[in-house]
Amino acid sequence: MSRKPKIWTLVLAASLAIGAGSPVLSQGEDEVAQRTELMRSNGMTLRGAADATGQDAVVAAQTFVENFTILPNLFENPETLGETLPAAFENREAFLALFDDALVAAEAALAAADVADQEGYVANISAVGATCRACHGQFRAD
Ligand code: HEC
Repeated sequence: MSRKPKIWTLVLAASLAIGAGSPVLSQGEDEVAQRTELMRSNGMTLRGAADATGQDAVVAAQTFVENFTILPNLFENPETLGETLPAAFENREAFLALFDDALVAAEAALAAADVADQEGYVANISAVGATCRACHGQFRAD
């Protein structure tokens, strides 16, 4: 698999880390703002992902790989819950395992899109979508 998305992700993670030093927001509030932004990106990406083909499919899968690489690091402070349920911090292993499932499915979708395996891509995007629902059902406030 191509290493490119990983490098890109590291750059983004580094820039987020610098952003976390913002004097305006406390680190916890910053975490909530950053994860909200990435979750919105997930929502917009999922909307078109199942019908995407070719380079659009590659880009959609890459976006999920990047988002799900960074997201687990943005749920570290149980004192700034935002719309996250305390269960995400209390039942941490199950919460992080769902992020892991999402990343694994996103990487498989990317590998499939890279070789124009549309069936494999769609199956793995659908697996990514299942992790959204599973996690929100347990760990996100309505
Ligand atoms: C492992 C858990 C987990 C997974 C996987 C996950 N989410 Fe979330 N999501 C959350 C939590 C927790 C919140 C609430 C974050 C907060 O505000 O504290 C959230 C918030 C959101 C929001 C609301 C953002 C806003 O505007 O406030 C959207 C949209 C969203 N997720 C979309 C998605 C989509 C689409 C996927 C899958 C592609 C996904 N999420 C996967 C846990 C998850």
